[in-house]
Amino acid sequence: MTIKLKNLIIILLLTFIVLNLNFIPTAFATDTVNAQKIFSVQCAGCHINGSNIIRRGKNLKLKALKKYHMDSIEAISSIVTNGKNNMPAYEDRLSKQEIQDLSAYVLEQAEKGWR
Ligand code: HEC
Repeated sequence: MTIKLKNLIIILLLTFIVLNLNFIPTAFATDTVNAQKIFSVQCAGCHINGSNIIRRGKNLKLKALKKYHMDSIEAISSIVTNGKNNMPAYEDRLSKQEIQDLSAYVLEQAEKGWR
């Protein structure tokens, strides 16, 4: 094998690795657009703009989420999956991935003040 060909192969391999590294984060990134859609269909009925029309204090603003220890993806995923009191469970309606993305979306919106 000539040196030039070897170099070419190394360059190709490196390109491949760099491309792959770029693709991995995209594949795992949360799907915000989809989460936003799910929120407006499934959640906004009771939680319009991060409020809570049934139990006013238990809204999705950062202060309330912190107060009720709901300020993590795990906690939000759990209440969405299993429901609580007057809030329905979404286990049968949404996939695990959708609930995960939705929880990240709720947290992100809470941090931005639902603007
Ligand atoms: C039928 C009305 C209703 C719908 C629809 C609904 N929720 Fe709720 N949600 C509630 C009620 C009521 C509570 C308060 C539960 C409790 O602690 O008693 C609540 C609580 C929460 C909390 C905890 C808030 C806090 O401050 O403790 C989160 C997070 C939440 N909901 C997210 C969602 C998401 C995400 C969806 C959509 C998948 C959703 N909810 C759909 C009524 C609803």
